[in-house]
Amino acid sequence: MNDHNNNSVEFCFLAEPTDVNFGGKVHGGMVMKWIDQASYACAAKWSKRYSVTVSANGIRFIRPILVGQMVSVTAQIVYTGRSSMHIYVVVRARDPKEDSTVITNRCFITFMATDESGYPVKVKKFAAESEEEKMLEQVAMHAKDFAKQLDRDFEEKLGWK
Ligand SMILES: CC(C)(COP(=O)(O)OP(=O)(O)OC[C@H]1O[C@@H](n2cnc3c(N)ncnc32)[C@H](O)[C@@H]1OP(=O)(O)O)[C@@H](O)C(=O)NCCC(=O)NCCS
Repeated sequence: MNDHNNNSVEFCFLAEPTDVNFGGKVHGGMVMKWIDQASYACAAKWSKRYSVTVSANGIRFIRPILVGQMVSVTAQIVYTGRSSMHIYVVVRARDPKEDSTVITNRCFITFMATDESGYPVKVKKFAAESEEEKMLEQVAMHAKDFAKQLDRDFEEKLGWK
């Protein structure tokens, strides 16, 4: 794992034969596990707290990952609320014998920092500085609002908690 900044982490590893589904490509559930793990590491690093997954929004499977490819999962905090950390994750893959890399997945994932009893605790504020960070912050806020509206629709229109 390489740490670039205080607000980000990167996992790098080879996709293994045990990661594969019946179609011979890396299992979607395995990719989601990697996304969750990298995001947890990012959230714990930022908050210095045990953190739990609240929601994963807009997970997109753009390209398949093949066994033997070098996988990189980058997770960066792009927006913080009171206890929530909104993380932008990008998964990339490449043949280690070649230079070209493809983006295979991306999403936003939200973690909440907790105390020893599992209650939410305040997190340090993330301040977007560059134009790209400001843009990511806006899109993350939009994703959060959309996900919360979906939560309300499930509850109010479908009667599901
Ligand atoms: C995570 C959990 C504690 C949140 O409880 P809750 O009462 O729904 O919490 P809240 O509605 O107060 O939301 C907590 C934070 O998440 C944010 N949030 C809530 N729903 C969200 C969504 N769909 N998308 C993004 N953020 C969301 C809220 O805005 C709030 O952020 P803030 O503190 O910065 O204002 C609870 O749902 C839970 O225990 N879930 C199971 C967690 C789990 O098992 N994860 C997998 C293993 S780690």
